[in-house]
Amino acid sequence: MLESVPREHPALNMSEIPTCEEGIVLVNFLNQFLKASALDAVFNEQPGSQHQPEPLLQEPLATAMREGTKVIHRAAETSVFTRRFLKGDITREEYGRYLLSLYFVYQKMEDLLKRHKDHPVVKLIYFPEELNREMTLVQDLDYFYGKDLAAALRMDPMSKTPAVQSYLDTLDAACSVSPSLLIAHSYSRYLGDLSGGQMLAKRLKKCILHLQEDDASWDSTDGLAFYHFNLGNQAEFKDYFRHQLNGAQVDADMRDLIVQEAVRSFELNIAVFDEVQRLSDAGQLVPMKRARNRQSRKSAPAPSNLSCYIMGTTLSITALAIGYQLYKRLYKD
Ligand code: HEM
Repeated sequence: MLESVPREHPALNMSEIPTCEEGIVLVNFLNQFLKASALDAVFNEQPGSQHQPEPLLQEPLATAMREGTKVIHRAAETSVFTRRFLKGDITREEYGRYLLSLYFVYQKMEDLLKRHKDHPVVKLIYFPEELNREMTLVQDLDYFYGKDLAAALRMDPMSKTPAVQSYLDTLDAACSVSPSLLIAHSYSRYLGDLSGGQMLAKRLKKCILHLQEDDASWDSTDGLAFYHFNLGNQAEFKDYFRHQLNGAQVDADMRDLIVQEAVRSFELNIAVFDEVQRLSDAGQLVPMKRARNRQSRKSAPAPSNLSCYIMGTTLSITALAIGYQLYKRLYKD
């Protein structure tokens, strides 16, 4: 049919048909898109040949993921638990529960990544040597709870709390839609650990492990294995990871699904934070052995507000009494 349309068809030169203003506007508008090269393609098309549409210019996948998760990232940073974490105001029991939740999440995610490591998209971001966290979480759980209790907690099906179970189910469901969606989960967890995670590690050192920057043990990994990655320069690695994401050959629909899945991953992480907070508020956290508390020898325990008040008042009364005695001696006697 296209062959029967003359190249100088009036519909392509609306200035010759001045009768319908709306039509002129519409066709002039459409003409902008029908450039000479596109016309050539239409008219020179061989019968039976497949017309390949020019791909639309799209932002790189890593950029789309960063932009798409900006708002939810802010929500993750400002959840009650993360705000307390950033202030260094969480307890060892809360942190232990958080580690336990992460243990189940990484175990599942890393198992799925391994299973699909030869998938053309998954293999782009499959770096088990550099990134895998499951064993580091086992080490940290052992550190905080002690080996026996940690092993019992990891084996106990009740440890898979509702927020954790929902995360695990979502990972399975994503994978059954397409293993490509795994890259969204890998992105949010690993790049998160290499970014904000490093800030959280500092808070832990100061407020849970009571280390000081000039302590010899500041660089110790005891209880902090989760934050130590064996990958050289972290900023360079993150750039490389983004570069690999950008290499994923996915169509527009899959791309949208990946960005949506990344947002979902953030939501699941927020749900995990909120759950730790809820369990803590309800007094349902597993206690830890206090013996493993590591107090810095340099830092004396901070006095409570009450003891500060009592000390201050006592000093003031003593100073007043001495002052009064001196005054009596010097001026009255
Ligand atoms: C404790 C709260 C958090 C803080 C303070 C925080 C902080 C940051 C910062 C400063 C960056 C930018 C790093 C850079 O450009 O190199 C970043 C990036 C990132 N964070 Fe967070 N974050 C937090 C929580 C989270 C959570 C819960 C997740 C998801 C599980 C997450 C996932 C990410 C990701 C994926 C990036 C990389 C963004 C990109 O470059 O594409 N963050 N975070």
